[in-house]
Amino acid sequence: MLLFLGACISTSIITLDKPLSDGHTLLSSGQNFALGFFSPGNSSRRYVGIWYNKVSVQTLIWVANRDHPITNKSAVFSLHKTGNLVLSYTPNAPVLWSTNISNLSAAGESSYSAELMDTGNLVVYKDNNKKDLLWQSADFPSDALISNMKIGVDRRSGLNRFLTAWKSPDDPGSGSYTIMINANGSVPQLFLYRNWEPVWRGGPWNGLGWSGVPEMAVLGSARFIFNVSYVDNAEEVYLVDYLRNKSVISRMIVNESTGTLQRLTWQEHKWVNFYSAPKDTCDLFSHCGPYGVCSILNVGEYECNCPPGFEPKSRQDWYLRDGSQGCVRKQKGQICGNGEGFVKLERMKLPDTSKARRDMSLGMKACEELCLRNCSCMGYSAADVRDGGSNGCITWYGELVDLREFSSGGQDLYMRLDAVELAKYSKKKKKFPGFLKILFIVLLSAAVLVLLSIAYWLMMKKNRGLFSSNSHNLRMSVNDSPKGDQVENLETSTGDVKFYTLSTIIAATGNFSLAHKVGEGGFGSVYKGKLENGQEIAVKRLSHTSGQGIEEFRNEVTLIARLQHRNLVRLFGYCIQKDEKMLIYEYLPNKGLDCFLFDKEKKCMLNWEKRFDIILGIARGMVYLHHDSRLRIIHRDLKASNVLLDAQMNPKISDFGMARIFGNDQIEETTRRVVGTYGYMSPEYAMEGLFSIKSDVFSFGILLLEIIMGRKNSTYYAENSVNLIGHVWDLWKKSEALQIVDPSLGTSDERDPGIHRCIHIALLCVQESATARPSMSEVVFMLSNEISLPPPDQAAFILRTSDKALTNTSSSSLGAISVNDITITTVEGR
Ligand SMILES: *[C@@H]1O[C@H](CO)[C@@H](O)[C@H](O)[C@H]1NC(C)=O
Ligand SMILES: *[C@@H]1O[C@H](CO)[C@@H](O)[C@H](O)[C@H]1NC(C)=O
Ligand SMILES: *[C@@H]1O[C@H](CO)[C@@H](O)[C@H](O)[C@H]1NC(C)=O
Repeated sequence: MLLFLGACISTSIITLDKPLSDGHTLLSSGQNFALGFFSPGNSSRRYVGIWYNKVSVQTLIWVANRDHPITNKSAVFSLHKTGNLVLSYTPNAPVLWSTNISNLSAAGESSYSAELMDTGNLVVYKDNNKKDLLWQSADFPSDALISNMKIGVDRRSGLNRFLTAWKSPDDPGSGSYTIMINANGSVPQLFLYRNWEPVWRGGPWNGLGWSGVPEMAVLGSARFIFNVSYVDNAEEVYLVDYLRNKSVISRMIVNESTGTLQRLTWQEHKWVNFYSAPKDTCDLFSHCGPYGVCSILNVGEYECNCPPGFEPKSRQDWYLRDGSQGCVRKQKGQICGNGEGFVKLERMKLPDTSKARRDMSLGMKACEELCLRNCSCMGYSAADVRDGGSNGCITWYGELVDLREFSSGGQDLYMRLDAVELAKYSKKKKKFPGFLKILFIVLLSAAVLVLLSIAYWLMMKKNRGLFSSNSHNLRMSVNDSPKGDQVENLETSTGDVKFYTLSTIIAATGNFSLAHKVGEGGFGSVYKGKLENGQEIAVKRLSHTSGQGIEEFRNEVTLIARLQHRNLVRLFGYCIQKDEKMLIYEYLPNKGLDCFLFDKEKKCMLNWEKRFDIILGIARGMVYLHHDSRLRIIHRDLKASNVLLDAQMNPKISDFGMARIFGNDQIEETTRRVVGTYGYMSPEYAMEGLFSIKSDVFSFGILLLEIIMGRKNSTYYAENSVNLIGHVWDLWKKSEALQIVDPSLGTSDERDPGIHRCIHIALLCVQESATARPSMSEVVFMLSNEISLPPPDQAAFILRTSDKALTNTSSSSLGAISVNDITITTVEGR
């Protein structure tokens, strides 16, 4: 909405005899901000608020009557004798909204003025003295924090300044998300709440930044567009930032639709997202439960881990990728006063400090002693990371919650460990002698084998019981299932897709026995099975989160089962019982590409010729999904473990169409949380949750590099601070890109010149700008023809490490992704 202000500009001041009525606008002295009546979005209701005067999209930073809308245009915003600002229909009508200050001086004794300052702050002061403030809007923020505004608590008065999201673009009413500094404990922390339940924890301030935002400490404040000032003393705790460049327009908001905190900057006529949190699965509060450590550094592995000396509390839930119960100590019983010590966890986000203590006068040594003396102290860390992180002491009592490991930044956290575990751990660090390790593995495998056979035997025994005792459930599934009347048949076919009864699947997979389990993916577990006719199948048992109705589920499966291509895994059919949903695939004897590519021995089976065939096969499969099939399918999770190899080592893409099968609501959910596989995610997906076929191209580029290197993208995080793409890019610029090639592909003289070309194509695929990336059909063309290739542009995610992530220069490249070019819906019927 463009603003037409010409006619109604008054001064920046409201006085007793100059109220503000609807249709009039107040401008601040430098014309940066305007105050007046407005209607948000498509609503016709009226509100009084402050917006940016120099931003062409009306953007409110403050709303007075957010929860008390006005229904017509007759209201007035006036200043009363008492110094209160009041919003009402007529001067004497009931009050809709008021500043509600109880003024000690008697009415009439002083004169008051309300002025809109050029900082966007509406202030009420006494007797023309701007120092004698009675009230200011900045003390009662809406959803936005701008330069000069404080977020935090005044400990003397109890005033708590926090942000609450708008309900929707049409309704500035208080939404469910809140950003607040919680100063209840000894160590204040930044929190994002939803209905007052923590969603994300920025954590305590560590001197340079929030513990949960490692970029702040890694980059250093000199790189920000603003100066940050954090104050924490007996009187107040707050954060305030001051923009360095007065002409930059930037605000932090809490966004109801994405459920995130966002920093947005006005650039090239639009708001550009700089930073948002939570960013990934591990950012979600206590995702791995008490003592569970969340880490997305190992692509393809489960993100929850237990620290040394701990094990999952519920192995079963852990196995099913539910870490919410967290970890427990292996060694039960008294661990205190038995020669215990501390194990150091590196690059950590500090655990929840709600029950922690802080003492700024202690150094690390004294901190350790303090913790050791008290049996309920579970760990300690430095409170301030400046000067090498040895200042101040935080000690934790009770369970450690919301732990995560960062790829860079973060802090050392020392966790209490009993003597036995500590000894084991330090021995492990000193490296096990090789033969002991082998002996250990052999013994362990033997034990597992014995256990498995016992379990299998028990389960087979139980199975007979299961069929009879579960017949009631089965009957119910009969009513639920679309093909219920034919349940007595082994399988029934609707067009190309078959419906399998649960009993068929149970019989085929030994009642989902461990022995039949062959894998675990993001969407559920996979079992190998054999039908009565001898046909081998792979059964994907979807996790219960799939929120689709049975009819839609069946429709989607039917559509997807019709997609047939030599480079796609064939979907045979499905099985539904109540909330159990299963997909039945062709069974491929070889495992995922990752099992070959990242394995020292097996990778030799993949010479360059073979690898190139695999690359081309994957690309062709993707072209089919994106362009050729009857549906447009965006894969969203293309990675080495989702490419299966058949007996002839032909690649077959699996897990495509899962977004469809999981239902549209689920996609929303997924988008909101951004749960793709870290390391394969394109920047626009990771940062803004936008999907497109070009996000798949990005993932393909990463996969291509991995195939060339014969190693995982993620292993780069561990080794040096630069990520994979940054590393390749640096080499490319120095014309040394061939250094990345897997040594098992032979010496540099024996190598195929095509390898260099493939690196070039990969770099084109991982370009920052989604529009600049080639389509998959162009990729296939480039792979199979010797045409000349355009030079690649700056690759994505270099920003992550080369310091631009939070400065104002990075967004120009982000801005290059025009929303028009992005297919936000994943699928379109053709
Ligand atoms: C301040 O920002 C404006 C607009 O982004 C830019 O044109 C100007 O060069 C900047 N000034 C300084 C001193 O960086
Ligand atoms: C919230 O985020 C969405 C998606 O990024 C964006 O479209 C919307 O404008 C944001 N809301 C506000 C108030 O900026
Ligand atoms: C240990 O610390 C807790 C929490 O600060 C405290 O309540 C308890 O009294 C301390 N115990 C000892 C023995 O100092």
